[in-house]
Amino acid sequence: MWSKLWYFVIFIITLSINTIIVTKENAVGKNNGFIQRKLDLDKIDTPKNIFVGSAVGGGSHLNPILEVCKILLDRGYKVNLVAPGNFTAKSTLYHSIPQIITGEPFDTYASPEYRKIFFNEFTFKSLADEQMMFNQRYIEYFNKYLQAYKETKPDLFICDYVGNEACFDLAWKLKKPVVGFVSNTEFFTAPPPFRSDPMMGCHVNMENESFYDRFICAVVQPLRLGWHFRKILNYLNARRAEVGVSEHYDIRGRIVNTLFLVNSFFGFELPSAWPPIHQEIGPILPDTFPDLSSDLNLFLSAHPRTMYIALGSFVYTTPKNYAILLQSVLELINSNIIDGVIWATVRFNESELPSTFTLSTGDIISTLNILNNLYPHIHVTKYAPQFAILSHKNTKIFLSHGGASSSHESMYTATPMLVLPIAFDQPGNAEKLELTGMALKLSKIDLKVEDIVSKVIRIMSEESFKMNAERMQVLLKFNSKRKYRGVDLIEIVMNFAKRDGIRNENDELEVDNEVLLRNWITPDSRMGFIRGNYLDVFSVAIIISLVLFSSLVYGFYVIMFAFKKWALRNRNSQSKPKNE
Ligand SMILES: *[C@@H]1O[C@H](CO)[C@@H](O)[C@H](O)[C@H]1NC(C)=O
Ligand SMILES: *[C@@H]1O[C@H](CO)[C@@H](O)[C@H](O)[C@H]1NC(C)=O
Ligand SMILES: *[C@@H]1O[C@H](CO)[C@@H](O)[C@H](O)[C@H]1NC(C)=O
Repeated sequence: MWSKLWYFVIFIITLSINTIIVTKENAVGKNNGFIQRKLDLDKIDTPKNIFVGSAVGGGSHLNPILEVCKILLDRGYKVNLVAPGNFTAKSTLYHSIPQIITGEPFDTYASPEYRKIFFNEFTFKSLADEQMMFNQRYIEYFNKYLQAYKETKPDLFICDYVGNEACFDLAWKLKKPVVGFVSNTEFFTAPPPFRSDPMMGCHVNMENESFYDRFICAVVQPLRLGWHFRKILNYLNARRAEVGVSEHYDIRGRIVNTLFLVNSFFGFELPSAWPPIHQEIGPILPDTFPDLSSDLNLFLSAHPRTMYIALGSFVYTTPKNYAILLQSVLELINSNIIDGVIWATVRFNESELPSTFTLSTGDIISTLNILNNLYPHIHVTKYAPQFAILSHKNTKIFLSHGGASSSHESMYTATPMLVLPIAFDQPGNAEKLELTGMALKLSKIDLKVEDIVSKVIRIMSEESFKMNAERMQVLLKFNSKRKYRGVDLIEIVMNFAKRDGIRNENDELEVDNEVLLRNWITPDSRMGFIRGNYLDVFSVAIIISLVLFSSLVYGFYVIMFAFKKWALRNRNSQSKPKNE
């Protein structure tokens, strides 16, 4: 009885499978012979092991790169983060990414060198000082990366750009494909002359500057920068020689032949042509963010005109500036321009602040009360769910240091900004944000209460700030889907490496990084400066036109001369008979 039933079931299944196949065939026949396009490459024997190296590590700096790593994991790749600080294990969003910890987390607060950089004006010399700090640890980084390489045997490197020459160099030495990752673009790609940066004493957009300023910013400052960086470069090349890496003389690093994923977008970046090997995939944002805690939710609901202050976890400013910021905030609350302040990632030292603040109305407010959240209009917190705060309708203005992630989040949520840039890309970002019309900027070396108050009043009262922020939001919402494109690009490199690579004696795939990405490398990078910019051809063209022009002028002059002579003679010969 059971076996009969069993046969029956099998019979029915066979019948239905046949029916499906037959209908499918019929359907194909009926649809005029369409076939389905296969979307993905067959990935069965594609190498899968990826090494992600960062010298800086930690927090908001790594988040975009880890966001890309998460998509790689979803697509079946194996990823190891190699970076200082125990980061991913403790992170809610990225704990699925294993990390090889290369040392203590980066602490700028304990470092006198960073204190100097943050407290003084930020110029290209400050950048050079920072670069030197990284270069001094080059061999340490190189050996740690090499160790991690031996443990994980990756097929592809992803290297964070900041201070990370060792990562790129190791990949080149081992002949492994490498993809770079960068958020700060000010130095990174050969800039067209109309683009510069405040750290050069110039502006991000030189469009309306005088001839003098354009000359200084396009010619003099880059020469000074090159001169200033030459020692650092020589030092780095000496360290490279110690670990058997060939010399490299581009202060920007190995970027000409390397695919770089740029966590930014035009509209924020000054529009200009970039080489195809540097592709913008930003802004990279996670799909989920931590929500408001109940006390923050309560605070925001009760304060319909809240200002959110956060200067990031990496930079900080002087105790004097913190006091000025607090004073301004208290004045703004006192005059009812704003009614609430959330101050996050506080990195000031309480004992360096004045113990009380005296307002222009004569009221005295105790600092300790503020810091202990006893003053009802200010909520101070070490950690804050930034995106959730910015998303709240009662957050009207964001006072930020202008780091890339914070700027992206503020634009995404259409929150007007007041930017107090401290270092690195921040002064440039502040200018870019101001150019979008959604922000105003402050100066860390000339911070004034009246300036802050008047700028907050402008941002709160003029509608254009919010409107321009909403305009930027459009770019953000659409461009934030491009992280998947970034992962596609990494997959392309991996597949090229699989096809172009040659197996060495240890059965490891080796590629030639000079030519691996030839489809994206513009020929001028191989042609040298003069041929690459066609200066030879254009100079000859100019010489030819000058010669032609001067011979024309000369010819014209000769003809005119002959004509004048002839006319004179004619006149003379005509006038002669009259005189007779
Ligand atoms: C890193 O943090 C995780 C979670 O807190 C902990 O379990 C682990 O032991 C830490 N690893 C190191 C090396 O400190
Ligand atoms: C430069 O001037 C032009 C014309 O007035 C204006 O449209 C443009 O926005 C200005 N650019 C900048 C960067 O100020
Ligand atoms: C805070 O500042 C005081 C006085 O300048 C100093 O003694 C103390 O070590 C500082 N504390 C921290 C944590 O830096």
